[in-house]
Amino acid sequence: MRLLVLGGTHFLGRHVVDAARAAGHDVAVLTRGVSGHPPDGVRALRADRDDPLPADVLAWAPDLVVDTSCQTRAAAEHATALDPRGYAFVSSLNAYRGWPPGPLRGEDEPTWDTDDDEYGPVKAHAERVLGAAFGDRFLTARAGLVAGPHDRLHRLGWWLERIAAGGPVVVPDALDQPIALVDARDLAGWLVEVCGQASGSVNTTGPAGMTTLGGLLDTCREVTGGDAEWVVVDEAALLDAGVQPWLHLPFWLPADVAVTAWDVDTARARQLGLPSRPLHDTVADTWAWQQQAVRPAPPPGRDLPGLPPELEARLLAG
Ligand SMILES: NC(=O)c1ccc[n+]([C@@H]2O[C@H](COP(=O)([O-])OP(=O)(O)OC[C@H]3O[C@@H](n4cnc5c(N)ncnc54)[C@H](OP(=O)(O)O)[C@@H]3O)[C@@H](O)[C@H]2O)c1
Repeated sequence: MRLLVLGGTHFLGRHVVDAARAAGHDVAVLTRGVSGHPPDGVRALRADRDDPLPADVLAWAPDLVVDTSCQTRAAAEHATALDPRGYAFVSSLNAYRGWPPGPLRGEDEPTWDTDDDEYGPVKAHAERVLGAAFGDRFLTARAGLVAGPHDRLHRLGWWLERIAAGGPVVVPDALDQPIALVDARDLAGWLVEVCGQASGSVNTTGPAGMTTLGGLLDTCREVTGGDAEWVVVDEAALLDAGVQPWLHLPFWLPADVAVTAWDVDTARARQLGLPSRPLHDTVADTWAWQQQAVRPAPPPGRDLPGLPPELEARLLAG
């Protein structure tokens, strides 16, 4: 079938392209052409999603669409000019009005209905617009934390680099905090599989309790080798020193948020076959990619994560 990836030249999108090709689809990507070219054999269509879709895109008439690049209201509205048999949209848990902090008991919890241009409300608006246009041909994948090779957000990547450098490493006093993530390759393959076959909303992240923050960091140390030693710092000391949760210490949330934010019901995703490969594979493959690739620039306007060295030195000095 003709499968159009909206996006497709970065992280999740490029894994969707790989999965779609592996499944034997005739694949096209639609991008502005800013972030590079798709692999040979994949048709490159050019458009800015903030403008109406051009005639050549509509004329290609995809059977299936996987949308990884919708970040504006206009982009969602213009995409309704397509008429595929299946449209799989990559949304976010942030589409829920109550997340974070959550918990999320299923997919029926209320989503944002405000008109501001924040990330969550825009995703929720896009879900409504596309859902109204495509009805039971539409599936929205509300992704949690996505990780794996080609991730330009560099959250797992920062931990890997810091832990590989070895020595005393500041870690939050929250190593038993449960966390969950979805490997971009698992999500991508599943999106290609379910597009046009299933519909509605699905919380697409790893099973609750699949690991803990400590489990993830231990896996990073095992994969990178070296002599990193955890220097556990309590939450109050981290916050007093100006450490920003999630940004400075990726995946760390203060205890009162963490207790519910990682509590996400993914029963529907499991029922629809979303896989969850061993965490070790995600970490090892990300590390292998990171060592041989030039790190892609972060998306415009995004801060790179990680603990600033001077802040780390202060915390280690006690
Ligand atoms: N990472 C996470 O933990 C996480 C969690 C929840 C949800 N998500 C969602 O997962 C998706 C991530 O997908 P990704 O990794 O493939 O995306 P990405 O890194 O944001 O890549 C964006 C892609 O879209 C294209 N693009 C950007 N702006 C465009 C425009 N105005 N018109 C046409 N094309 C445009 C880019 O190509 P050009 O620059 O060449 O146009 C590129 O191919 C996003 O929708 C994100 O909201 C991510």
